[in-house]
Amino acid sequence: MLTLLHDAFRIVTSFTNGLGASGYRTMQQVTGAEKSKTVSRMFGRIAKRYDLGNRVISLGRDQSWRRKAVAKLSPTAHDRLLDIGAGTGDLSLLMAHTAQSVTALDFSHPMVVIGQAKAAKAGMNKKVAFVTGDALHLPFPDQTFDGIATAFTVRNLAKMEQGFAEMRRVLKPGGRLVCLEFTNPRSRFVRFFYRPYLHYILPILGGLLTGDGAAYRYLARSITAFPSAQSLAESIRAAGFPTVEWTTLNLGTVAIHSARRESPPSIARAAA
Ligand SMILES: C[S@@+](CC[C@H](N)C(=O)[O-])C[C@H]1O[C@@H](n2cnc3c(N)ncnc32)[C@H](O)[C@@H]1O
Repeated sequence: MLTLLHDAFRIVTSFTNGLGASGYRTMQQVTGAEKSKTVSRMFGRIAKRYDLGNRVISLGRDQSWRRKAVAKLSPTAHDRLLDIGAGTGDLSLLMAHTAQSVTALDFSHPMVVIGQAKAAKAGMNKKVAFVTGDALHLPFPDQTFDGIATAFTVRNLAKMEQGFAEMRRVLKPGGRLVCLEFTNPRSRFVRFFYRPYLHYILPILGGLLTGDGAAYRYLARSITAFPSAQSLAESIRAAGFPTVEWTTLNLGTVAIHSARRESPPSIARAAA
C-alpha cells in the first residue's frame, strides 16, 4: 500500500514538473565534474525564482537561519570575509552589514547576476564583490580571508573534502569557518513528518514556484543522502580544522557547524 502511494506521488510530481519519472534518479547518479556541471546548470535554471522558492519551502525561516550563522561567525568591522556558493547573495548581504568586505563566490553565473543586482539595490555593491568561480579551485591566494561562511552549498559539492581543504587554504591562521546546511533530524517522530514533506510536498511546491520540480527532487534526495551533523563535523576536522562545534535548528533539520583554522603557537599563546 505504502509503495503504491509512493509511486502515485512520484507520478504526480513528475507531471507537475513536466518531466518523466525516469528523470528522477539522473541527478543523483552523476559524480565529479559531471555533478558540478549539472548542479551549476540547475541553479542557473531556477535563479530567477530561487529566493521566492526558499522563503516558501522554509516557511519563511531561511533568513533567520542565515542570521544565526552570521552570529556564529561574529564578523568584525576589519574582517575580509568569503561566502562560498553565495547564490543570490542573501548570506553575503547579512555579513556585509558588519564586515569590511565580502567576496561572494558562486559558479552559477545567473545566480551571481541576481546577487549583484540585489547588492546594488541594497547599496552594498562597494562592500560585496561577486565572483564567478569554483569552490573546489578557489581563485584566491593562501591565507586571504579572516572568515568564511557557506550556506546550503557543501551538500552540492562534487568533492566536499576538497571544498573544505580549499576553505582552509584561503583562511588566515585563526580564521573562522561557519557552515549552514540541511541535516537529517535524529528524532524518528520529526522524520516521520519531514520525509514526506521533503519527498512529496517540496517537489510539487518547488515545481509550481520555479517551474523546475527536478531541482527540488534533487534537493530532497541530496538532503536525505547527506552525512549526519556528526559525520560532517568529522569531515571538517579531517580537512585541518582541529575543533568543530555544531548546533541544530528547526527541529533538527538544519545544522550550523563552526570551526577555526589553527593559529601558529606564538599567536595562540598571545590570545590565551
Ligand atoms: C542551495 S544554493 C545556496 C545559495 C546561498 N548560499 C543561499 O544561502 O541561498 C547552492 C549554491 O552553491 C553553488 N555551488 C554549488 N557547487 C559549487 C561549486 N563547486 N562552486 C561554486 N558554487 C557552487 C550553486 O551554484 C548555488 O548557487
